[in-house]
Amino acid sequence: MKRVLVVGGAFLFGMGAVWAQQDSAKEVQTLMKANGKNAGAMSAMVKGEKPYDQATVNSALAQFEDTAKKLPHLFPASAKGVKLDGDYSISPKVWEDKAGFDAKVANFAKLVGEAKAKIKDLDSLKAMMPAIGKECGGCHETYRVKNG
Ligand code: HEC
Repeated sequence: MKRVLVVGGAFLFGMGAVWAQQDSAKEVQTLMKANGKNAGAMSAMVKGEKPYDQATVNSALAQFEDTAKKLPHLFPASAKGVKLDGDYSISPKVWEDKAGFDAKVANFAKLVGEAKAKIKDLDSLKAMMPAIGKECGGCHETYRVKNG
């Protein structure tokens, strides 16, 4: 009876570790999917497909800010090499060059801060969008890999 309990305990502990690594990688993916959606909503305004809407811009920028706050904390050693569903996964380079990654996050956070102060209408949105896109793409180039 005692033995069964010990085995059960080890099993649960093991499950916990697997959940922890998948959870943090999944959270990165959830944040990024939201980033993609919000960036899409803003570029639809830039392209004139949607009317300019300050509330949408504000909530997109707030979500980018939240992403920048959380990102540096979502890479425990156990999550290295975890494959995500879909087209992309996190590159092992995040762990190999965490300082470089954190610097990218810091640049992104700084730009989002500027965007919050500057974007007040369609013209200022148009002026800021390329810089925002450059930060997204600059990080993806090094720290995101295509699955498969
Ligand atoms: C500091 C690094 C960094 C920045 C800045 C960044 N990303 Fe990402 N992004 C990643 C990493 C790492 C992945 C791979 C993990 C994943 O798929 O979620 C990723 C994946 C994605 C994905 C694919 C999500 C999926 O799996 O379906 C989208 C969409 C995305 N990012 C959008 C954006 C947008 C839009 C911005 C800018 C507003 C942005 N990202 C800024 C690091 C970053």
